[in-house]
Amino acid sequence: MCSRSMASKTPVGFIGLGNMGNPMAKNLIKHGYPLILYDVFPDVCKEFKEAGEQVASSPADVAEKADRIITMLPSSMNSIEVYSGANGILKKVKKGSLLIDSSTIDPSVSKELAKEVEKMGAVFMDAPVSGGVGAARSGNLTFMVGGVENEFAAAQELLGCMGSNVLYCGAVGSGQSAKICNNMLLAISMIGTAEAMNLGIRSGLDPKLLAKILNMSSGRCWSSDTYNPVPGVMDGVPSSNNYQGGFGTTLMAKDLGLAQDSATSTKTPILLGSVAHQIYRMMCSKGYSKKDFSSVFQYLREEETF
Ligand SMILES: NC(=O)c1ccc[n+]([C@@H]2O[C@H](COP(=O)([O-])OP(=O)(O)OC[C@H]3O[C@@H](n4cnc5c(N)ncnc54)[C@H](O)[C@@H]3O)[C@@H](O)[C@H]2O)c1
Repeated sequence: MCSRSMASKTPVGFIGLGNMGNPMAKNLIKHGYPLILYDVFPDVCKEFKEAGEQVASSPADVAEKADRIITMLPSSMNSIEVYSGANGILKKVKKGSLLIDSSTIDPSVSKELAKEVEKMGAVFMDAPVSGGVGAARSGNLTFMVGGVENEFAAAQELLGCMGSNVLYCGAVGSGQSAKICNNMLLAISMIGTAEAMNLGIRSGLDPKLLAKILNMSSGRCWSSDTYNPVPGVMDGVPSSNNYQGGFGTTLMAKDLGLAQDSATSTKTPILLGSVAHQIYRMMCSKGYSKKDFSSVFQYLREEETF
């Protein structure tokens, strides 16, 4: 259906070079793909430019130069701007182009974007990710892909450079639905881990020992064994770096809002998901929005004790 070349190392567009986009783009480069990059905050493109990659002046400029584009943006609003804005991808997209949005956004927005992209003779897929910045760096992300099934192989060729699991979920928007369920569970398990660790520490236990016990016991989860929220328990995670980098609390609150919308439209009870949503929203209003979401531990610690 298109002239887009599969399995060739023609330039790939990459838009959104934040905590996740930066290491993802680097993994595409490692696999031999030249990149055409754009970010609304030009400073983040500097290191790529210095390494010889091409930096574009707008998403439209990226679409003019590349027929495969990956976007990694904070929220629905940003994806709409990058696709449909005044200098958006759709202004210059070539027929047959493959546009993969790896941002976590509202599934209904993915569906709308897919319709607009289709009108231009191109293909849109949603492919949100799980795994955090560690997995983005090591190329071990999990991609949840929604879209036309016969385009999945083309998407897999690129996504496989950045992730170890690339799963087809169904029609466009279904990748987002899967991702939203995952992040609701993650939000709940992170709060649970922070509560358990805080309780143990206040009961006199050594945090490293407590984490070791949890990780050998039935309370073990990703938040306890891979991304522990207590400073000093693990190296290389945001809690040991003053909660810098990682997955911002504001982004987690956004994902829980998406879970809430989805629960409302499907009349699904999400009691713990709703409480988690309110906790992360309170954190945002108390100065935690830019910190990694595992700072819920710090937030709990700072609550007055009686
Ligand atoms: N950080 C994580 O651990 C993690 C894990 C899984 C999924 N996600 C999801 O991945 C997405 C990106 O997350 P992140 O942590 O990298 O966010 P981030 O805020 O660190 O990076 C987003 C980047 O997009 C750029 N941007 C914003 N609007 C733009 C626009 N209009 N045009 C061009 N660039 C624009 C920003 O300047 C920034 O560099 C989010 O949807 C998030 O929910 C994040």
